[in-house]
Amino acid sequence: MTTLPAADLQLPLFVYAQRESLTGKSAWRSLQEHYRDRARHFQLARLFAADDKRGESLTAEAVGIYLDYSKNLVTSETMALLMQLARQCGLPDRIEAMFRGDRINLTENRSVLHTALRKPASERLVVDGQDVVAEVQQVLRRMEGFARQVRSGQWLGHTGLPIRHVVNIGIGGSDLGPMMAYEALRPYSHDDLTLHFVSDVDGAAMLDTVRGLPAEQTLFIVCSKTFTTLETITNATAARAWLVQQLGAEEAVARHFVGVTTNIEEAQRFGIDADNMFGFWDWVGGRYSMTSAIGLSTMVAIGPEHFRAMLEGFHAMDEHFRSAPLESNLPVILGMLTVWYTNFFGAASQAVLPYSQHLKRLPAYLQQLTMESNGKHITVNGEPVDYQTSPVYWGDNGINGQHSFYQMLHQGTQLVPCDFIGLCQPQQALGQQHELLMANMFAQSEALAFGKDADQVRQEGTPEALVPHRVFEGNRPSNSMLLQQLTPYSLGTLVALYEHSVFTQGVVWNIDSFDQWGVELGKQLAKRTARELIDHQQPLHHDSSTNALIRRYRACSTA
Ligand code: F6P
Repeated sequence: MTTLPAADLQLPLFVYAQRESLTGKSAWRSLQEHYRDRARHFQLARLFAADDKRGESLTAEAVGIYLDYSKNLVTSETMALLMQLARQCGLPDRIEAMFRGDRINLTENRSVLHTALRKPASERLVVDGQDVVAEVQQVLRRMEGFARQVRSGQWLGHTGLPIRHVVNIGIGGSDLGPMMAYEALRPYSHDDLTLHFVSDVDGAAMLDTVRGLPAEQTLFIVCSKTFTTLETITNATAARAWLVQQLGAEEAVARHFVGVTTNIEEAQRFGIDADNMFGFWDWVGGRYSMTSAIGLSTMVAIGPEHFRAMLEGFHAMDEHFRSAPLESNLPVILGMLTVWYTNFFGAASQAVLPYSQHLKRLPAYLQQLTMESNGKHITVNGEPVDYQTSPVYWGDNGINGQHSFYQMLHQGTQLVPCDFIGLCQPQQALGQQHELLMANMFAQSEALAFGKDADQVRQEGTPEALVPHRVFEGNRPSNSMLLQQLTPYSLGTLVALYEHSVFTQGVVWNIDSFDQWGVELGKQLAKRTARELIDHQQPLHHDSSTNALIRRYRACSTA
């Protein structure tokens, strides 16, 4: 945790704080009126009937992603007002400030430069006198050298055997991105290497992973931006003990452990060799770090060339976000639609529904990205907001969702905007299964939007008593995104799309999307409580509920 002298905070706060409150802006008031007088009565069926080109005009396409946002409760007037709001909130300047390396992470007084991680080697970006692109490229080259050695079998374990299993130990941003990317890019993964991910401090996570693994052919990558995260350090310590016990030699650690961190000293204290360390910088937020050295396991799995292609995809979307007019800017459109539903329709959640087995971990990844970024109720001016901020992002592989929670999406009482994500071509074809998969995606967005009324239900011969149960109101909004194929490049474009959508929302809500103070209290309390669970003599000074739970645990854990 960084404590900042108050003086350091004065300048950036002065520069970025929005003087006028969000709800006082003229575009906000126009949107309120627009919602009250027109939008809350919008019917997608009528909007489509009135404009037979709507499904083509309310679309945008960039860097290989086709976005159809026509099935949203918007008209061109709504979109114009949303873009006006984005401008009144200073979005174009804030985008520039981020890319330039200004310290827009105000509460931590840091630049926010994940976009520099994917800049081409030929570019320069000087921040505080340092060319950060050169630094990034230097680490990338070291990662590439290491990944090549592991992949080619030249990197030998302590007993002289090549590596076959790679265990990524990390949590949050040091786990979700690499795990999601490994799942997404499985067809690109080296045949002889299997990746494993351990994040949970529940001993079962580590034990289940190492059970049956050949220690002599296993490499642990310990990923932690801070290298102080209790779960990760505890798991790394357990992994080291397991390895030393299996191989019978303390020296084995040097060939089987590498570290990825911004805190080199702490990693060295843990026992990781300086040569086996890959660094990054405090201007990379954990949840924005999958293109930093945190992506080492990804690079080992898919190889340096594919990793570079993924970086190119990210960069292509970065450039689009930076340069495209707001009206045709994919992250801005997505972000402002989220603002629209959250702040005007009162939607409390947003579903993400990939129609792709390999994107099944995307919703989990996006949960940290979106909610750790924008789950805030204090503005950068230090005042409480008087509007809602981040909705709950949730979701699953769309097909599986259809057989579990889609009932609520179609006939529940809450408005849940949905993002459908599909691929024009599968990574691997199996008969006509891809057509079946995509037919479901298109059918679901159509059903949500247009539903089925009572007359249609009756015409199907439904008994009158069942008619209300079988009516689909429709008018439930969604975006549909199509990617050509799931490749390293397209995965990069997709993740960057959401990163910048989150940024757009955060600018409008006038919050710091790059800190996460809300995770600290639980961590502090857990440290104290862990001592109390281990040493049963420690006195308890919690509330009566927590005291009783701890006493109960003390009794039953030794029973
Ligand atoms: O507790 C939240 C958090 O700080 C996340 O922001 C971060 O991604 C995760 O923990 C892991 O942190 P680290 O990489 O420092 O171990």
